[in-house]
Amino acid sequence: MNKNFYQLIFLSVILSLVLNCGKKEEKEEAKTATETTSEATLDPELAKGKEAYNINCASCHGETGAGDGIAAASLNPKPRNYKSPASEWKNGNTEEGVLKTLNEGIKGSPMVAYKHLGDDSLKAISKYVVYLTKN
Ligand code: HEC
Repeated sequence: MNKNFYQLIFLSVILSLVLNCGKKEEKEEAKTATETTSEATLDPELAKGKEAYNINCASCHGETGAGDGIAAASLNPKPRNYKSPASEWKNGNTEEGVLKTLNEGIKGSPMVAYKHLGDDSLKAISKYVVYLTKN
């Protein structure tokens, strides 16, 4: 065996290590990409709305918006079920309608105004409520 032969073996070992290493990284990158997509099913504003909704609204309206939160049973009138037809809503089931409800509240009902949460938050929550009417 001459020196060139060993050099060749050495080079091919290095080369295969480098190539395999690249492949592994590619696989890991692909895995990270799928993980991120499955977690981020909601766009950022909807995700923000969902967080604020779960804190401020779900106790009455329920996490899915079916009007069945833990406080709902003792309330009269009942919290709106977001799946109910638009005709049963006082201000309408659009983003604008929900914003009006959140800014003014509904007189004579436990649905008070949420102006203190701030415009950005109310906009995100309204978007999420409209999302819940369809999902
Ligand atoms: C204390 C319980 C309670 C909480 C908390 C609450 N709601 Fe309500 N909500 C109600 C009740 C009760 C009604 C029904 C009012 C009626 O029919 O007059 C209502 C009605 C609504 C309606 C329907 C308005 C319409 O046009 O008819 C929307 C939209 C709404 N709530 C959104 C929210 C959001 C968003 C939050 C959180 C920021 C929230 N609510 C928090 C009790 C609650």
